[in-house]
Amino acid sequence: MTDQSSNQMWGGRFAAGPDAIMEAINASIGYDQRMAAQDIAGSRAHAAMLAATGVITDNDAEAIREGLLTVLSEIETGTFQFSTALEDIHMNVEARLKEIIGEPAGRLHTGRSRNDQVATDFKLWVRDQLDAAEAGMLALIKALLAQADAGADWVMPGFTHLQVAQPVTWGHHMMAYVEMFGRDLSRVRDARARMNESPLGAAALAGTSFPIDRDMTAEALGFDRPAANSLDAVSDRDFALEFLSTASICAMHLSRFAEELVIWSTAQFRFVTLSDRFSTGSSIMPQKKNPDAAELIRAKVGRIFGANTALMMVMKGLPLAYSKDMQEDKEQVFDAADNWMLALAAMEGMVKDMTANKDSLAAAAGSGFSTATDLADWMVRVLKVPFRDAHHVTGTLVAMAESRGCDLPDLSLEDMQGVHAGITDDIFTVLTVENSVGSRMSYGGTAPAQVRQQVARWTEILGA
Ligand code: ARG
Repeated sequence: MTDQSSNQMWGGRFAAGPDAIMEAINASIGYDQRMAAQDIAGSRAHAAMLAATGVITDNDAEAIREGLLTVLSEIETGTFQFSTALEDIHMNVEARLKEIIGEPAGRLHTGRSRNDQVATDFKLWVRDQLDAAEAGMLALIKALLAQADAGADWVMPGFTHLQVAQPVTWGHHMMAYVEMFGRDLSRVRDARARMNESPLGAAALAGTSFPIDRDMTAEALGFDRPAANSLDAVSDRDFALEFLSTASICAMHLSRFAEELVIWSTAQFRFVTLSDRFSTGSSIMPQKKNPDAAELIRAKVGRIFGANTALMMVMKGLPLAYSKDMQEDKEQVFDAADNWMLALAAMEGMVKDMTANKDSLAAAAGSGFSTATDLADWMVRVLKVPFRDAHHVTGTLVAMAESRGCDLPDLSLEDMQGVHAGITDDIFTVLTVENSVGSRMSYGGTAPAQVRQQVARWTEILGA
């Protein structure tokens, strides 16, 4: 006699139901209910195919189809009773279908297994998230392009080692992030194209003896083709790992930008003013305006990269084909996806709203002897001095200015000629920040004309 409490889906060979702790460690319904829509779409495609291939009758398929729609609407309206005893979304849906339509529900699982079912559901879910990430990135790139376009010729300091290096333009700096998020976008598109093969019909691991049509279910679910090896199809989680690694790299980019915004919005820098909508106040210090959104974006890479590492460790060393370890994939991906989308949206909002403080940027652009390289380059170009010697002369002039507490252009011509007799009055034009950035016309350089060219190129790529 089978114990009443044994599982109604697989309890046939069981005399007793599971221990409460077994149920707690085994159940995934607490989180995999997020894949309800994908589970039902997969089941509908499967049922339609079973009818088309004559494995089940049209009447049964119709009953299943209608019943699944009822289940979906119960889930969407929140009336569905999820049961931990039924483990996961797959068995919860099927059990409810049985309550609604009776016997035909028992034919739905013909020629499939929860192993290909879960791989299919999860792929569909991840695919939707890749699409959402693509949309989020496009919106962020457009916001950056608008900033770059407006400030293609606003000068600011460029840094290496976070020390002033050479003047650059605001537009150039914004476009650096466009390049980064552009690569993220192409990684998302690559990942989507590679993952778009249907596991459905791989069944438990070996395929099935039923005359199923895997092309038909693949097409119905928007896959490009069925996955070609059933063992691989049920045990592959590369798509989830690619999602997480792509998300990690993008989150790292978001984090770098967030860090710059945190620095730039300080009273010491004043390069940008973040909008009230993306800042918070302090409960004790009335003057404070904190860049919390930027700080949280900066932190998100931690949990997203953590999810990537966690799933990599889960998958490492698993023998073919399915193992229950793989159920640990979902919470990591769900959490990473939620936080990635949120970080993208928050960054887009901040970029759209923020004001670059043109005057502060310009004032800082000339500080820190930022045009010293221009002076050296001029000596090479005009006086034909070897670069190493020009570097030395310029260094001496910088030391002189530093000891007097002034900038390079504040030195007199006599001061300069005292260090190198060939220097002429022309040097003062060369030492301006505007001249410096305008002269950097090499492809990809900071000159406003180059920046505008890049804005135009990206605008065309995006069809914006
Ligand atoms: N809840 C399971 C998961 O997420 C579904 C697949 C279960 N398969 C099995 N053979 N027990 O992985």
